[in-house]
Amino acid sequence: MENDTLRGFIYLIVTTIVTVAIALITAISLMHRQEVVDEEAVNQRILPVAQVSIAAASGGTGVERTGEQLYQATCTACHSTGAAGAPKLGDNTAWAPRLKLGLSGLLKSAILGKNAMPPKGGSDATETELAHAIVYMANKSGGSLKEPAAK
Ligand code: HEC
Repeated sequence: MENDTLRGFIYLIVTTIVTVAIALITAISLMHRQEVVDEEAVNQRILPVAQVSIAAASGGTGVERTGEQLYQATCTACHSTGAAGAPKLGDNTAWAPRLKLGLSGLLKSAILGKNAMPPKGGSDATETELAHAIVYMANKSGGSLKEPAAK
């Protein structure tokens, strides 16, 4: 009889422990699943911000400018006057040796800057916009560069 009581007691304890353990494991895994869902929701919410900062990092206004527009906005400051030794728009002689670099060579100079010319001519242009501006300038200065293929 004594033994039966003891056995009953132990049985009760073991059952309680197992039940609590199962409840805990269930609770923890539910909490974990909630976290995963939250993470996805947060990613969705910050996506627009992330995209905007990527756009800002790669330069540009978001609306692509034509070569002429970028030229008028920025490049003209030096390239219409010849300031700081810039090859002037329409000065075929000044452009002739540079045209030999081809669009890719000229684009490289424009992106990195060259001597008195600051990188990107000091603008926030994208590489595509720069390429269009170079084609615009070069082709008004004796060149016959092709517009870069649309990306
Ligand atoms: C602050 C003045 C300045 C501005 C603004 C400027 N440039 Fe220039 N650019 C120069 C000068 C100076 C040179 C000549 C560099 C040299 O060969 O020493 C030059 C040269 C170049 C060349 C020839 C590079 C080569 O390798 O021969 C290209 C292409 C060019 N600029 C594109 C641009 C474009 C596109 C813009 C506008 C987005 C621009 N530049 C704005 C000053 C400027």
